[in-house]
Amino acid sequence: MKVLLIGNGAREHAIAEKLDDCELYSIMSKKNPAIAQLSKEYWICDIENADIVAKTIAGHEFDLGFSSPDATLAAGISDVLGGCGILVASPSRAASRIEWDKSYMRTLLQKYGIKGSPKFEVVKSPADALRLMKEYDQVAIKPLGLTGGKGVKVSGEHFTQTDDGLKYAETLITKDGTALIEEKLVGEEFTLQAFCDGTRIGVMPPIQDHKRAFVGDKGSNTGGMGSYSTGPLLPFLEHSDIESGKKILQGVVSALKKEGTPFHGILYGQFMATAHGIKIVEFNARFGDPEAINALSLLNDSLGNILLSMAEGQLHQPSFSNDSTVVKYLVPQGYPDKPIADSPVTIDSAAIEESGAKIYYASVYDKGGKIMTTSSRSFAILSKATTLEEAEDKAEKGCSLIHGALWHREDIGTNSLVEKRIERMKSLRGQK
Ligand SMILES: Nc1ncnc2c1ncn2[C@@H]1O[C@H](COP(=O)(O)OP(=O)(O)O)[C@@H](O)[C@H]1O
Ligand SMILES: [Mg+2]
Repeated sequence: MKVLLIGNGAREHAIAEKLDDCELYSIMSKKNPAIAQLSKEYWICDIENADIVAKTIAGHEFDLGFSSPDATLAAGISDVLGGCGILVASPSRAASRIEWDKSYMRTLLQKYGIKGSPKFEVVKSPADALRLMKEYDQVAIKPLGLTGGKGVKVSGEHFTQTDDGLKYAETLITKDGTALIEEKLVGEEFTLQAFCDGTRIGVMPPIQDHKRAFVGDKGSNTGGMGSYSTGPLLPFLEHSDIESGKKILQGVVSALKKEGTPFHGILYGQFMATAHGIKIVEFNARFGDPEAINALSLLNDSLGNILLSMAEGQLHQPSFSNDSTVVKYLVPQGYPDKPIADSPVTIDSAAIEESGAKIYYASVYDKGGKIMTTSSRSFAILSKATTLEEAEDKAEKGCSLIHGALWHREDIGTNSLVEKRIERMKSLRGQK
């Protein structure tokens, strides 16, 4: 099967590797040396421009297309692939609106009676923003569109004074004409991703990501510093939480079908377990990065076959190993505030292989045979084991075998951090 993959991060490197029973072709915005090596042929172009992508693939034939990053979905790249007669396993621009328009998302949930939204309102004036800040007391202030995970400000976390929150809402209103104000949710976040064929869902194991830059969840939000999973359940969740999450994901897929924009692709639910049950923070219309790396390492089936079944509307239910996984991102020194780019890195590949950890290339480039950093995340290190403790230990070993001006969050996947989450959830549930 000839598969065309669009995207060039560590997430796409993991996808490319998992398509090892297919003939891989790829389109990247910048050359990812690892994906290039796995591809029979690759092209470099602006992957967020539908016309350019259409020109790039003109005259070529593929059996299946998969466009991975959020901005490519919003740019209608899946529609371009479909227009070329290729079967497509990623959502159309219309279906991916569930991610790129948070107002549409909240309204859809309301329309179809899907539970899990906080109180919310889309405002067009600072006066309305202020009214809601008073009414909800604690809020999250969001732009409606894509911001690479860096556009949301939350009371008590990013600002404490009403005035500062109001200023942020004003900035958004000036820029976009609107701002989304939501009641603040309090709890533990987790990710539930599903393969979707327009009708059915095949849910992957739950995963917890770490958005904050520094140890102990301090610092600003990043693209994600790492993630872990522990089989069918996370240690701070109950089975009923997963069931609630699945119900919400299925509700969205059914709603989008009724809306005439069926969702073929990966639906990512970002959930918050709270004292009042499972709430939905947002949806993504694609794999999470890093969460794709955890989930795909556990998938027992051929990813190519599952993607094909999604595109054809005949989902093969996926099966997963119950192992624990840890992903840690190695990022440039100074990341996220003042990252040092263009610095050489050496990778002890043989020792990494021996350690059992795996390395995925994120934003690095090849200069005369040397791997160099950029200002974004550099590598994701994955490890898998029967216990979380072992997996975490192996991930740390993997990180130690890559040398350069890099750092990573050493606390991700450690027992002490997981214990804190368990205690926090216990105390929240006890407050009911
Ligand atoms: N209503 C909310 N209550 C509490 N925290 C929130 C809320 N909405 C968002 N957040 C926090 O902000 C982060 C980013 O918000 P999200 O809606 O996922 O936007 P994006 O990922 O597109 O920036 C979330 O992961 C969560 O930590
Ligand atoms: Mg998010």
